[in-house]
Amino acid sequence: MRIQRVSSKWAKTKAILRNRDLSIYIPDTRKYALDTLKEMLLLYDMVYIKPDRGTYGTGVMRVEQRGVTLSASDQGDQENLEEPPENLEVKVENTKLMYILRYRKSAEVYSSPEELDRALIKVIHNQSYLIQKGIDLLTHKQRPFDLRVLTQKNLDGLWETTGMLSRIAAPQKIVTNYHSGGRIKSVKAVLEEHMNTFEVDSTINQLKALGVIMARQLERTYPGIKEIGLDVAIDPQHDLWLLEINTLPSIVVFKLFPDRSIYRRIHRYAAAYGRVKKNH
Ligand SMILES: Nc1ncnc2c1ncn2[C@@H]1O[C@H](COP(=O)(O)OP(=O)(O)O)[C@@H](O)[C@H]1O
Ligand SMILES: [Mg+2]
Repeated sequence: MRIQRVSSKWAKTKAILRNRDLSIYIPDTRKYALDTLKEMLLLYDMVYIKPDRGTYGTGVMRVEQRGVTLSASDQGDQENLEEPPENLEVKVENTKLMYILRYRKSAEVYSSPEELDRALIKVIHNQSYLIQKGIDLLTHKQRPFDLRVLTQKNLDGLWETTGMLSRIAAPQKIVTNYHSGGRIKSVKAVLEEHMNTFEVDSTINQLKALGVIMARQLERTYPGIKEIGLDVAIDPQHDLWLLEINTLPSIVVFKLFPDRSIYRRIHRYAAAYGRVKKNH
């Protein structure tokens, strides 16, 4: 039987969100449109905009919002103290929002969502794009990282998390993908900088369980899937966020680890469900 692959991030997100308990892991994600862009910018300081069917970090953009105070109100601060609403109004009038669009290695500044939308549309054309709440990633040596968790059907036909690694963004990159210059390290190595041993271990266990939970939920809508790769972000509060699920995850990246038994097991499972040849 063929292994089922699903390329639409939107379709996979909807499949996961059918289980309400899992929504805590999913950053607010919507289809791109000017109205949604405006709404999301009211809610979040930073958003990601990405192709619904993208891979390798290609076409991924990010918008950061900054408030610039044009001129400090020096008139009657003292007098206004007793009238906070008016005081607040004065402040708002003097603060202008700027939108910084980061794409590949460039950064451009726009002064309104409409202007920003016109620039985005040039990249988007008529393709389907998503807009997602941006997660502030933890860093390793000042570079943001996220995690890849591999979960496969094992020889008993049960979901099992068989590998995980961290991906560290290349300088000035807004994506961590290996194909976009990201570096790979063990999960332990990057978590140790932020957590004590107890928290590192419990986070690793949580990630293992997350892979299995997500696989089971996705399988309800897509019964032919055999393997998934989760892209997981960790924010400064150490909360886990699922950025996307890949249904054709890379397995060769796990060859990079000195412990060969990890890759051997991954390969064994992949051979059993027919992704790779047995005699390898
Ligand atoms: N919402 C987000 N918050 C923070 N970083 C993100 C977000 N979405 C994507 N990224 C970064 O961009 C990378 C690529 O995005 P992803 O959704 O995985 O698309 P692709 O299919 O191209 O890998 C992620 O691994 C992560 O580094
Ligand atoms: Mg990805």
